[in-house]
Amino acid sequence: MGHHYLLPDISRPGRIGCSLPRLDVPPSELPSEELLRQELNLPELSEVDVVRYFIALSKLNYGVDTGFYPLGSCTMKYNPRLHEDIAQLPGFASIHPYQPVESVQGALQLMFELQQYLAEITGMNATSLAPMAGAQGELASILLVKAYHHARGDRLRKKILVPDSSHGTNPATAAMCGFEVGTVSSNNEGNVDLNSLESMMNEEAAAVTLTIPNTLGLFDPQIAEISRLVHERGGLLCGDGANLNSLLGKAKFGDLGIDCVQVNLHKTFSTPHGGGGPGSGPICVKGNLAQFLPSPLVIKNDKEYTFTIPLKSIGRLGASYGNFGVMVKAYAYIRTLGAEGLKEVSENAVLNANYLKEKLKAYYHLPYDRTCMHEVVFSGKKQKAKGVKTLDIAKRLLDYGFHPPTIYFPLVVSEAIMTEPTETESKETLDAYIDAMKEIAREADENPEILHTAPHNTPVRRLDEVKAARQLDLRWRMGKHH
Ligand SMILES: Cc1ncc(COP(=O)(O)O)c(C=O)c1O
Repeated sequence: MGHHYLLPDISRPGRIGCSLPRLDVPPSELPSEELLRQELNLPELSEVDVVRYFIALSKLNYGVDTGFYPLGSCTMKYNPRLHEDIAQLPGFASIHPYQPVESVQGALQLMFELQQYLAEITGMNATSLAPMAGAQGELASILLVKAYHHARGDRLRKKILVPDSSHGTNPATAAMCGFEVGTVSSNNEGNVDLNSLESMMNEEAAAVTLTIPNTLGLFDPQIAEISRLVHERGGLLCGDGANLNSLLGKAKFGDLGIDCVQVNLHKTFSTPHGGGGPGSGPICVKGNLAQFLPSPLVIKNDKEYTFTIPLKSIGRLGASYGNFGVMVKAYAYIRTLGAEGLKEVSENAVLNANYLKEKLKAYYHLPYDRTCMHEVVFSGKKQKAKGVKTLDIAKRLLDYGFHPPTIYFPLVVSEAIMTEPTETESKETLDAYIDAMKEIAREADENPEILHTAPHNTPVRRLDEVKAARQLDLRWRMGKHH
């Protein structure tokens, strides 16, 4: 591929890309020399140069719209465009958070009904739509745990217990809220080790947080038992329901004995995940915790929908009401698919992950050989024994035109390859990915060098990973080629 995307190469002094309207005001003098920036060395281009430059850049990008994107834990599924259109309707997109409630009754009705749908789907009694990301929903959960214990006069509970197979945000959130984090071990099957939990769940433990399904992509069949143990000892059981796309219509967190759970609308209910875009992580709780929910909630009184602040609310999580556009898309998704359609979402998510598992387990080590949920975790252990790292496998996938899965996470699996095909991919796409993975396994046996030096076909070859993470520099500067 040529380097035509490097802007400085095509800048020519005096070339202009726009025509300004004729001056219709009196000309004014420029400020004096010393007030003018001299170093602002902007490229000079024609319009066609600019268009080609940005189109070339856009073609370098990889996204859900261009190909299979099996990042585990991240649910990079395709989301219907229709819902983007709906979220952009002026009645949704052009309203202001501080408009009088009587002028935004439709928007409030949507929020009210979404609160109810999410409570129904999760088997809970009340929902707050305030959190603006999954991690912020977790923050709300842990603040709520604190408020609950303090309201009971119990200030001794200073620990949150988190299994070692949990999502990284779970211990991070607990620590952010001033709790100590106790790590509960997993057993050989990838479930919580009940003995480990039993020994840690004491009067110092405020709550246990379970990622459901856990980051091994597995459903722990002991959740009801865990719930009994935690509650008997005075704690609360929080769920991380970010990956609800694996459970929709099949299992309800409330029925499993969970007290509060956050769900990621931007992974399950239409809205692309990733790229730092807007998210939404509503928190759903059992009745006894509703009084602590983050504000505001939408309620319906005799004549209208309006906002309310729960009695002992942990407060606001942002300036207004959360990410409303994401709520609209989630509402549209739920209403479009209906109860039966939502069930199919999780059936397909689970079916696709198990299909990959069965087709690839002869080629890659499968640490937990049991039915998985929406994602499957392999280990690159076999290939590592031949000197091929999981990173090499991921880089080689780029040559085959695929975005790699998540690697080196979860931490409890060495050389982890965590693959989430998502529910929106066809059998043909999955088969093409399976073929590429098989080919890479063959290369690892026969021609490992090609993996060590991959990727070969991408505009940028292998990056210095540490530098890319620590010294990220995405700013273009004249004369500085990246
Ligand atoms: C299990 C789990 N918990 C929490 C999060 C964090 O969500 P967010 O990125 O919206 O903060 C994710 C992210 O995908 C996740 O997979």
